[in-house]
Amino acid sequence: MNSLANDLSRLSASSRRYLAARHRLFIGGEFVDSVAQDEISVIDPTSGEQVARVPAGGEADIDRAVTAARKAFDSGPWPRLTGPQRERMLLRLADLLETAAEEVSQIESVNSGRTLVATKAFDVDLSVDYLRYMAGWATKIHGQTMNPSVPYLPGGKFFAMTVREPVGVVGAITPWNVPLGQAIWKVAPALAAGCTIVLKPAEQTPLTALRFAQVVAEAGIPEGVVNVVTGYGETAGAALVAHPGVEKISFTGSTGVGRSIGAAAAQQLKRFTLELGGKSPMVVMGDADLDIAIPGTAMGIFANHGQNCCAGSRLFVHDSVYEKVIDGIARIARNLKLGPALSPDTDMGPLISKAQQQRVLEYIRSGVADGARVVAGGNELPGPGAYVQPTILTDVRPSMNCVREEIFGPVLAATRFRELGEVIERANETTFGLGASVWTQNLDLAHWFIRQFKAGTVWINTHGVLDLAVPFGGIKQSGIGHELGGEAINHHTTLKSVLASLREPR
Ligand code: NAI
Ligand code: MG
Repeated sequence: MNSLANDLSRLSASSRRYLAARHRLFIGGEFVDSVAQDEISVIDPTSGEQVARVPAGGEADIDRAVTAARKAFDSGPWPRLTGPQRERMLLRLADLLETAAEEVSQIESVNSGRTLVATKAFDVDLSVDYLRYMAGWATKIHGQTMNPSVPYLPGGKFFAMTVREPVGVVGAITPWNVPLGQAIWKVAPALAAGCTIVLKPAEQTPLTALRFAQVVAEAGIPEGVVNVVTGYGETAGAALVAHPGVEKISFTGSTGVGRSIGAAAAQQLKRFTLELGGKSPMVVMGDADLDIAIPGTAMGIFANHGQNCCAGSRLFVHDSVYEKVIDGIARIARNLKLGPALSPDTDMGPLISKAQQQRVLEYIRSGVADGARVVAGGNELPGPGAYVQPTILTDVRPSMNCVREEIFGPVLAATRFRELGEVIERANETTFGLGASVWTQNLDLAHWFIRQFKAGTVWINTHGVLDLAVPFGGIKQSGIGHELGGEAINHHTTLKSVLASLREPR
């Protein structure tokens, strides 16, 4: 057996049973067959082997799911429950997901190629916490009161307030890099706000969304509130965006697809939030604490195999510490043990697919052809797994594809700088604006960077840390709107203004 492939006998009996099961769509509170007969082959990226099959849902399935979500929103109990009632249901969902943690994490690791430590932390534990965090919001959604003056109606007395109402049926489309984690980022605020939802997970990683649907059924969430339709983007995804029964689209994925989704949603004046790509800079100043900056920037790019929208894929190091920092990161890169997701000694698994592996290798090749130097990694591993070594490119120029475009793999493009004005100009020289970090011990410098970076999130002496309570979103080509924090509630509610004319009691 190929030692780089997962040993599936490590899986629990329940995980193996789940993979082997016949998977169906989850619509209106039931697992149902797809109207379309097509199936998607779900691949273990460590081996290229099929581990499960799921329905390739199409337009008719999406229509059924939206109709179920529509009915649940228009006449079902969910939006009419009190805050404490929805809170209790979300807490129940969290408890049941926590109970299923081992199985969900194993399924996610086999399907996405990420270690059990990673899938447990980011797809399970963070999702459990986010469901609990959003359960708390369910009781805290409210408008404001105002004191209107209405100057053109002298003598009139008015009272005014705003109320926040659920936006309606949400269509959620998620990517493969943190499959369940991303799905729960969409499900939790929708449910807290009283919305209903149709979720279309990425075709590469549909399994944990369907496993979560079992948790939804077990928790007793009313039928039609959460629906899961697996399928391809161009068919199921596009049908969800186009469906007139959907009030809001919540999308995470590539900038190109996000742009077309935004355009399609705008045609119907649907609301939309887009969390898209990035090419986030990390700046290491000469005074940085290198004991923190070296491992921190290494993880800024290599965490999740570089398959992170906020990956720190461009590094700028001050001339005075450049050699030391690059050597340090290169040492970490060479020591990261590539291997199958299920092996306990693996640090980094494969990329999501052979296609993604080839895409990433092509960026490395084109960089090298344009004059970049490989100081660590640079290659695939032999065999059917989608492995790419953690790679560092130096001698890069701003015009190179590997510096301009999102690679979504473990590839760092590093350069040195001398002047502050020079580094901020180069850091901001990107069409993206998701994240940016600076590593320094100088408070004034840190605050200067906070103001200067053109990015949705700025990190100081860390990179890529996200928290449930902190809104996350991009500017420029990195997206529109925010996920996480109270902003997620705002994006799932609409504001209704109320003005009342007051008279003296008679
Ligand atoms: P993608 O943007 O095509 O896929 C993301 C999701 O959108 C999937 O669920 C897919 O089925 C769906 N989708 C695709 N086309 C659609 C359409 N026309 N209408 C509606 N939904 C559609 O991303 P892909 O092709 O998997 O990855 C390509 C590149 O995109 C990556 O290499 C990376 O650079 C970027 N990407 C960025 C992500 C992020 O978190 N910012 C996540 C995934 C990919
Ligand atoms: Mg695509």
